[in-house]
Amino acid sequence: MALLEISNLTKRFGGLVANNAVGMEVNQGEIVGLIGPNGAGKTTLFNCISGFYSSDGGSVVFEGQDITRFSADRVCREGMARTFQIVKIFKDMTVLENVMVGAFCRTTNPERARQEALKTLELVGLVEKKDVPSGSLTIAEQKRLELTRALATQPRLLMLDETMAGLNPMETRQAVELLRKINAQGVTLIVVEHVMEAIMTISDRITVLDYGKKIAEDVPENIAQNEEVIKAYLGERYYARS
Ligand SMILES: Nc1ncnc2c1ncn2[C@@H]1O[C@H](COP(=O)(O)OP(=O)(O)OP(=O)(O)O)[C@@H](O)[C@H]1O
Ligand SMILES: [Mg+2]
Repeated sequence: MALLEISNLTKRFGGLVANNAVGMEVNQGEIVGLIGPNGAGKTTLFNCISGFYSSDGGSVVFEGQDITRFSADRVCREGMARTFQIVKIFKDMTVLENVMVGAFCRTTNPERARQEALKTLELVGLVEKKDVPSGSLTIAEQKRLELTRALATQPRLLMLDETMAGLNPMETRQAVELLRKINAQGVTLIVVEHVMEAIMTISDRITVLDYGKKIAEDVPENIAQNEEVIKAYLGERYYARS
């Protein structure tokens, strides 16, 4: 049984079909990349899976349980967490307090939440910033903090929406290492990213969306050579860069 099974997932905004009968399976322990041009529907798919949007059709099954109609906080309690493309940290709170918000998903005891938050901060290498107001962190650190807060909910599936956008090459390498470390601890990952070097090296498999539809799903080597993917996305990006 797959950890996550999405079938025929459809989301409309008025006349626009942002997710068009998308099907996708993610197995326990995998790192799955989710790519596609701007507006392809990647963030919308995350929103539908994680209960932030209610979908207009199709189903989401997590660990054998149909969670299609679950609220976002219920989905989180079931063991699925996500980050946001535009960071949504609580800027007036300290780093530790932000991570404790995530930890409170599993406990109502402040001391336990504190311990869990500290443990997670240690894992991601942010513990020395624990008392800093999070608004004063660099963008790279804010993205890492958001990831940490999601991780503190102790998810079995973590969905990351462009956590590497705007990072310099060294920060990107560190982010890739961190994701590998998190994955090695048994957390399955779905990673949305436009940074091709990162997504191609880290993913076991890649799913490609274009205009809300899945156009390909394969190992990175094959995705890089897939004519339809090159035409819809990769070609355009390489062209845009040169
Ligand atoms: N809340 C919303 N209301 C109306 N339209 C929306 C909403 N959210 C997304 N859309 C539209 O749905 C389509 C898919 O958007 P989405 O943000 O999912 O794309 P994306 O693949 O994440 O793109 P990007 O790579 O730029 O982040 C776009 O045409 C977008 O304008
Ligand atoms: Mg997006």
